[in-house]
Amino acid sequence: MTHNGNILVVDDEPEVLKNCENILRHEGYSIDCAAGKNDAIASLQNKDYDIAITDIDLPESGGVEVIKWINNSKPGTGVIVTTDSPSQDSIKEIIKLGILDYLPKPFAPVILADAASKAVKFIRERQSSEENAVETAVESKYGELEKIIARYRGIGGGLIPVLQKAQELIGYLPPPVIRKIAKGMNIPVAEVHGVVSFYSFFSMKPKGKHVIKVCLGTACYVKRAEEILQKLKEILNIDVEEITEDMRFSLESVRCLGACGLAPVVVIDNDTHASVNPVKTSDILAAYE
Ligand code: FES
Repeated sequence: MTHNGNILVVDDEPEVLKNCENILRHEGYSIDCAAGKNDAIASLQNKDYDIAITDIDLPESGGVEVIKWINNSKPGTGVIVTTDSPSQDSIKEIIKLGILDYLPKPFAPVILADAASKAVKFIRERQSSEENAVETAVESKYGELEKIIARYRGIGGGLIPVLQKAQELIGYLPPPVIRKIAKGMNIPVAEVHGVVSFYSFFSMKPKGKHVIKVCLGTACYVKRAEEILQKLKEILNIDVEEITEDMRFSLESVRCLGACGLAPVVVIDNDTHASVNPVKTSDILAAYE
């Protein structure tokens, strides 16, 4: 039987799940089904999917949560959204989340099959060009990475130090590096991926030369940390979790840096900027320009 890709279908209506599963399986895809947000995230943690087709109208904003989780933890997975209640405003909001396609219910089998086929093709092409670019950028470091892997291979608990050292060496942990580490350590890729996703200090995305962390914990929030974050976004012209075009800065928001008495706090690399005045936010960047 042909295997055209892995697809996760998320919907809280069993009948919709069953129909999608039948249609897509018939098209040669391997299908897993999830009845809600938690099931979907558990499946995504355990397996790599080309695309996820999720109902946006799951209870408690579950559909949006699934998409956000994918964007943060499995950015290589494409998303198609289905909905019972399409409206211009909701479409605009959902498109901002970076989805590939949008299917109002009920949809004909041919529409679903066509959307899945286009999305999987797009994801595979994007993945291959991104991975080629990453391979080219990091292959000069592979010799050193192999030495690191060899040092810890077969040692219990060796994965974490390998990931730490690989991140120090390369700057982040893109999928080709994760696969190389998994192969070298003889550990399933999904397990290595799970560890990287679990610990916030590991990153699958490249970071800027200077990493800016804005604390949005309660003590900082009440002292206008949100305003500081907004100004930094405007000055750098990036959003949270993004990197400036010149690769100098990346921007993150965090929950309590453990320095509440110094609120509002911004940390740049290893420097703590205390009692930051939102009006003078740009001043804290001067030393890093
Ligand atoms: S809330 Fe910002 S450091 Fe604690």
